[in-house]
Amino acid sequence: MLKYILGLSLVMLAMTGCNKGDSEGHTSDKPITIKFSHVVAESTPKGIGANRFKELVEQRLEGRVKVEVYPNSQLYDDNKVMEALLLGDVQMAAPSLAKFGKYTKKLQVFDLPFLFNDLKAIEKFQLDETGRDLLGSMSDTGYRGLAYWHNGLKQMSANKPLRNPEDAKGLKFRIQQSDVLQVQFEQVEASPQKLAFAEVYNALQTGVVDGAENPWANIYSKKFHEVQKYFSETNHGYLGYMLVTSDSFWNSLPEDIRTELDAIIAEVTAEVNEEAYKLSMDYRQKVIDSGRTEVLPLTDEELAKWREAMKPVWAHFEEEIGKDVVDAALSSNE
Ligand code: SIN
Repeated sequence: MLKYILGLSLVMLAMTGCNKGDSEGHTSDKPITIKFSHVVAESTPKGIGANRFKELVEQRLEGRVKVEVYPNSQLYDDNKVMEALLLGDVQMAAPSLAKFGKYTKKLQVFDLPFLFNDLKAIEKFQLDETGRDLLGSMSDTGYRGLAYWHNGLKQMSANKPLRNPEDAKGLKFRIQQSDVLQVQFEQVEASPQKLAFAEVYNALQTGVVDGAENPWANIYSKKFHEVQKYFSETNHGYLGYMLVTSDSFWNSLPEDIRTELDAIIAEVTAEVNEEAYKLSMDYRQKVIDSGRTEVLPLTDEELAKWREAMKPVWAHFEEEIGKDVVDAALSSNE
């Protein structure tokens, strides 16, 4: 009998202990840890944003929330990080918008070549109703979009000058995990290869691929300009991010913490997006000043040819994305 009572007391004690926390392990005395994993350098807009987020969270939620940032694919690549979010191994990530095709087709709108005139138009679209709704486009898969962060417009590179679409014919281009980008390069009779960001430098250096596309901040910080002879200023597409978490993590947070995190995210987003264009231009200049490659400005006529060659991609994906979404994106250019 004594054994039985002792056993029961131990079980009750353990249960009381469990009730102090929740399924995510939040207890009143232990700070909540947000692991933020990303693949780029700390000097890029996303790297700066992640570090600024950590700084503000640890200032304003001192002792209650701790942020650990893992840059440069130290922890996960962008495919794995999405799984890790649902498993609770990380709590925040900001993959490129091109990498969500497995979870929603709507975000493909951001990959359509030559759709947006400039970063201003993209920002306008992201802030309007359609753009804001897209933050929730993965809600049925357990992900929650928190914000959009810019990197910049992409430039095309190779070891031969790419002035006209015919110049890309037969070349192998590294692309992100995106069906839109695959069709984009197929339109110019090139051969696209999906590779993780961490593999790009080696793939370019060893000739696994002949060319790539990325914004200036990624090009300079990962030294792609040291292994590509020419960069054409195509500005043909957008590379931006969605800051994401999982619904289960977000819903497990105390409401006051969620409110503070929302405010911090809004502040960091404004800072990142305001700085992104300037940063992009600074990195463009650094690439030029390095003397390791040649940056080729394209004429309006040359750009018109690229646009013409790639425009069929829009019709190809319009149904999957939704005509309303494509139209709303287009109208942000006005
Ligand atoms: C990133 O900017 O997060 C990576 C983009 C890429 O995979 O090219």
